[in-house]
Amino acid sequence: MKKTYFITGGCGFIGSNFVHYLMEQELVERVVNLDKLTYAGNPANLKQYDNDRRYHFIHGDICDKKIVEQIFDQYKPDYLVNFAAESHVDRSIGKPEDFIQTDIFGAFTLLEAARKHGLERFIQISTDEVYGSIVSGSFRETDPLMPRNPYSASKAGADRLAYSYYATYKVPVIITRASNNYGPYQYPEKLIPLFVTNAMEDKPLPLYGDGKNVRDWLYVEDHCRAIQFVIEKGAVGEVYNIGGGNELMNVEITRTILEHLGKPESLIRYVDDRLGHDRRYSLNCEKLNKLGWRPVHVFEQAIKDTIDWYREHEDWWRPLKTGEYLEYYKTHYKTLS
Ligand code: NAD
Ligand code: DAU
Repeated sequence: MKKTYFITGGCGFIGSNFVHYLMEQELVERVVNLDKLTYAGNPANLKQYDNDRRYHFIHGDICDKKIVEQIFDQYKPDYLVNFAAESHVDRSIGKPEDFIQTDIFGAFTLLEAARKHGLERFIQISTDEVYGSIVSGSFRETDPLMPRNPYSASKAGADRLAYSYYATYKVPVIITRASNNYGPYQYPEKLIPLFVTNAMEDKPLPLYGDGKNVRDWLYVEDHCRAIQFVIEKGAVGEVYNIGGGNELMNVEITRTILEHLGKPESLIRYVDDRLGHDRRYSLNCEKLNKLGWRPVHVFEQAIKDTIDWYREHEDWWRPLKTGEYLEYYKTHYKTLS
């Protein structure tokens, strides 16, 4: 049977990739996208569906009970996937309020509506950051949560609140915790698109601290496949780690970018470290692997494709790299060398 998806934050990076992924599937009846269009939300990401009857965009806030209720009443969604969030760690360090509001209170508003109206699956998109940092080994779903910055703490709050709605009210919640995504449509404040676009403009690449912090990189399309997989094969009340299996130091990613673009390493600038900078994220993904999911994209190729996408879509990122963010990062990070 064809399904109706209620997507929140569908104009952002992962959300818009997920909408593209859904719109290619015949068994999708309708995609309803509720997005507040913060600085990170870009309707241009989904412009091609402006006149598509299967796609419905609603401009609004997930904290707005009235709008959320109206969507449940009008569209009767089968599945809700909550991507909407303030997502950038540096911004959460500078100004945490919006993170608490959207990431926690917004999730609460959606969960309350789901409790009242009912649906088949409520997918809460959480993050590997909720576990905190790990020097060696990898986190399992059963490990304690030790978030260390306001962004990851607000995501941990939403993660556990979603679980509580399953345990208490039997809302069919599933929680996913993915590692660092990369791919098209990522706002150029995050490491990869910031460094690619800076390098293209021969501007410095500000590496925090010693550049040796480790992240696990997951191609965004693999993440989208995993979410769909979890909707179909996952068990309610469960948490699933979703990792790419590509752990790299930031300086290694930086060198890959410079090499692919044919730019010199002299563009690297070591700058003050992020406050409370998590040293390493690492996920054990056996639980999802046992169900049958594995990433299909190979990092060495997918990172080149990603860099080429930004190279070919200057019209997409150039308007985003204006005043606000540049001012922000100029005042927050002083150059060390
Ligand atoms: P993003 O910042 O690119 O997009 C967020 C989207 O949410 C934007 O379209 C924005 O307009 C919208 N939004 C923000 N506040 C809203 C509100 N109150 N109401 C409605 N819409 C609102 O984020 P992203 O990188 O695509 O991340 C999406 C989700 O995935 C987030 O929940 C994030 O925590 C999680 N996540 C991200 C990564 C990653 O590497 N980017 C990894 C794991 C998990
Ligand atoms: O791990 C999943 C998380 O990945 C998501 O939950 C977050 O929403 C997403 O923003 C991302 O968080 P990170 O903090 O890991 O991503 P970011 O791209 O901001 O930084 C990646 C690494 O690069 C991190 O160690 C900080 C470093 N960095 C980042 C920027 C923007 C730099 O050295 N210089 C920079 O200018």
